[in-house]
Amino acid sequence: MNADPHLDLDAKHLSIVFLNILTNAVEAMETVEEPVLCISVNEIKEKGEIQLCFEDNGIGMSAEQLENLFEHFSTGKSTGLGLGMTTTQNVLRDHGARILVDSKLGEGSRFQIFFKHKRSKG
Ligand SMILES: Nc1ncnc2c1ncn2[C@@H]1O[C@H](COP(=O)(O)OP(=O)(O)O)[C@@H](O)[C@H]1O
Ligand SMILES: [Mg+2]
Repeated sequence: MNADPHLDLDAKHLSIVFLNILTNAVEAMETVEEPVLCISVNEIKEKGEIQLCFEDNGIGMSAEQLENLFEHFSTGKSTGLGLGMTTTQNVLRDHGARILVDSKLGEGSRFQIFFKHKRSKG
C-alpha cells in the first residue's frame, strides 16, 4: 500500500520507523519540564527528496552514543532492547531512504529522513 501517491512506500513498515523514533523521543523527554517535539515534512525540490524531521528537546546523546546508535543492542536505558534504531535503519534502507541524526547531550536530538521522490531520477 502506498502512504503517498508520490512516494513508493510501505505504510506498515514505515509505521514501525515512526513508532521507534516517537517512542525514543517521548522517553528522552521524560525528565524534561517542558517537552517539545517538532515534526515537519518538506519537499526539497532541487534534490528530488521529501524530508521528514523529528526534533525533540530531550536528554540528547553524547558523541559516543550517537556513534553506536545503529548498533544492535546498543541502549542507554535500563530496560531498553537497543533494536529500534537498527530496525529503523534497515527499513529505511529498503525504501532507499537515508537518515541523518544530530544530537547534543542535555539539549535534544534531531532525526531527519530523506525519501527519494518517485518521479525523480536516481
Ligand atoms: N530521541 C532520542 N534522544 C536521546 N537518546 C536517544 C533518542 N533516540 C535514541 N536514543 C538513544 O539511542 C538508544 C538506542 O535506541 P533504540 O535502538 O530505539 O533502543 P532502545 O530504545 O530500546 O534503547 C536509546 O537507548 C537512547 O540512548
Ligand atoms: Mg527505542
